[in-house]
Amino acid sequence: MNTQGSLSVTAADVHAGGVHILKQVSFDLRPGELCALLGPSGSGKSTLIKVLLGLREPKTGSARFDGKAVKDAGPIGYVPQDDALHRTLTVEQALWYAALLRLQSLEALARQKRIESVCKQVGLSARLDVKIGRLSGGQRKRVSVAMELLTEPPVLILDEPTSGLDPGLEAKMMGLFRALADRGHTLLVSTHAMQSLEQCHLCLVLVEGYVAYFGPPASLVAYFGVERYEEVFTRLNAHKPDAWGRRYSASPLRGQVRARSARPVAERAKAAGEGAAARPSPALAPSAGKNPVDPDEALRAFKESLDSHE
Ligand SMILES: Nc1ncnc2c1ncn2[C@@H]1O[C@H](COP(=O)(O)OP(=O)(O)OP(=O)(O)O)[C@@H](O)[C@H]1O
Ligand SMILES: [Mg+2]
Repeated sequence: MNTQGSLSVTAADVHAGGVHILKQVSFDLRPGELCALLGPSGSGKSTLIKVLLGLREPKTGSARFDGKAVKDAGPIGYVPQDDALHRTLTVEQALWYAALLRLQSLEALARQKRIESVCKQVGLSARLDVKIGRLSGGQRKRVSVAMELLTEPPVLILDEPTSGLDPGLEAKMMGLFRALADRGHTLLVSTHAMQSLEQCHLCLVLVEGYVAYFGPPASLVAYFGVERYEEVFTRLNAHKPDAWGRRYSASPLRGQVRARSARPVAERAKAAGEGAAARPSPALAPSAGKNPVDPDEALRAFKESLDSHE
């Protein structure tokens, strides 16, 4: 069980090619949290991922992993949008080569055990002898996840791992990510799919590089004044991106999310044991008290902020 895996971005501004891509982006994830990274195409999701991986330096602000600047911290597991798997190898061969490279200090038997363990975690134990080229899209994604799990990274970032999957497979993949979070991994998953958000503890919504929302999925629809998750993207068009950014900065939700408690390791282990896949983090669960956002109050404050800026 990992006890590490906190990730934070503070007031990050990123510019590239004369474009101001990320604007004062701040958020943090605690060990064992699963966060969906949402936003329209071009909103800055992949750029934010690059910042977290240390591949893009913010002009101002910082990204930290367990308190250290990301470029000085340990490796973060990363599953890119396009897998880089050798299709002529079987699942077992691909994992064996990856383990040989990444787990050089382990004895052969221990390496083999680790391969078996990650295959079990992603549900591929029955596919070990199948060539990767013959796997379905979802199975291939699971091989990519298994490759990253070999080194047991405390933090795993996945860029659109469910794109191109049918809704059933998408839900299964999100269930897998939730199970990994319940085992102690911290996960950030960029996605356009909105059907399985209740599996996540948190959602980060970007719009043109502004944080439009960072909070639990249970409060998302009330915050945006819509009825279904899927309507959030349409709703984003109703106001200018900077207005959404200002609204979130001024929202009481921001303070509530910052003040949330970490999920205790024992509680996560219990959740994993009981298969509490759809249970929100207790620190953020609306059932634990009243809904953290009063939608009427939030909308009133939002309208006032628009009146004063537009
Ligand atoms: N190196 C660059 N130079 C100039 N503009 C860039 C560069 N990299 C990204 N951008 C721009 O920054 C914006 C955000 O890009 P990014 O790839 O982060 O978006 P995204 O949210 O991941 O989109 P998608 O959902 O389509 O993957 C886009 O408008 C993109 O054109
Ligand atoms: Mg992207």
